[in-house]
Amino acid sequence: MFTAQQVVVTQPTAGDFKCFTAVCTHQGCIVGSVADGLITCPCHGSQYRIADGSVARGPAPAALASKPITVSGGEISLA
Ligand code: FES
Repeated sequence: MFTAQQVVVTQPTAGDFKCFTAVCTHQGCIVGSVADGLITCPCHGSQYRIADGSVARGPAPAALASKPITVSGGEISLA
């Protein structure tokens, strides 16, 4: 979780990083935690899959938008 940038970075498989907006598509809360392959919003319990940001559990109406990132030398940057 990168709160200042409002993004969440996941690693679905080793070395494969994904970045999504941390703003929940339901009512705009910042999603709170990443565990067991899911990103969870603390406000109403929506869950998104870490691999593609798609909705695993509502009430979120849409997937988290992905953000482009670059990974080099062990550092992740927003592209
Ligand atoms: S704002 Fe995230 S579940 Fe409602």
